[in-house]
Amino acid sequence: MKKFWIISIGATMMAGMLSCNKVRRSPGRVYMPDMAYSRALETYSSTEGLQKEGVNYTAMPVTGTIARGDMAAYELKNDSAGYAASKNIINPLPPLDAKKFIEAARLYLVNCGICHGTKLDGNGPLWNGGKGPFPAAPRNLLTDPVVVNMAEGTMFHSVTYGRNTMGAYASQLSTEQRWMIIHYIKEKQASIVAAPAAVADSAAAKKPK
Ligand code: HEC
Repeated sequence: MKKFWIISIGATMMAGMLSCNKVRRSPGRVYMPDMAYSRALETYSSTEGLQKEGVNYTAMPVTGTIARGDMAAYELKNDSAGYAASKNIINPLPPLDAKKFIEAARLYLVNCGICHGTKLDGNGPLWNGGKGPFPAAPRNLLTDPVVVNMAEGTMFHSVTYGRNTMGAYASQLSTEQRWMIIHYIKEKQASIVAAPAAVADSAAAKKPK
């Protein structure tokens, strides 16, 4: 009986040692391969093969491509001639109705307010009177005469392609959304031009007596 135990323990130890393997990269027998080896779905890792076959998989869309449902593409180029010509482009959207105005205000706050300020005064948190992290003063969109007198087309051009330190918004906002924001800024400008007296009156009315 003793012999039997010695032999069986010895055999177990032998089996244990033999099952070890020097090849560390091999996990031995894999019974759930999906967990040991994740399936590589590297869609964008290499499209050279596809392009050799003439399939332009991740290539840029053809110039002038319009997203489904978007308006016709803006055709002026991002150069000084395009900037100069942009003043003749007219906002293709009708004036904003109440619902669109709220949406335009939202888009403005999401995309522009961080620099140009929630009040359009050019003093958003990124600038903060020069104390913020942004290196250049954003324009005051409400009262800066340059912007007040700027054609809507030029504003659109700058928002589409960016202007000096301001980035381009063509990839974040659709053509329609950009024109909506331009309408919004112009309406805000008009509202303070139209009602400076009313603003002064209400400021006076608010003063404690
Ligand atoms: C990261 C900060 C930043 C953001 C965000 C930003 N701007 Fe600007 N913007 C600037 C600065 C800085 C200038 C002044 C650029 C210059 O003339 O040097 C400017 C200038 C402008 C001008 C004047 C352009 C011109 O032709 O002189 C307009 C109009 C304008 N911004 C509108 C917008 C709108 C609309 C948005 C949102 C879609 C926006 N900006 C988002 C920083 C910003």
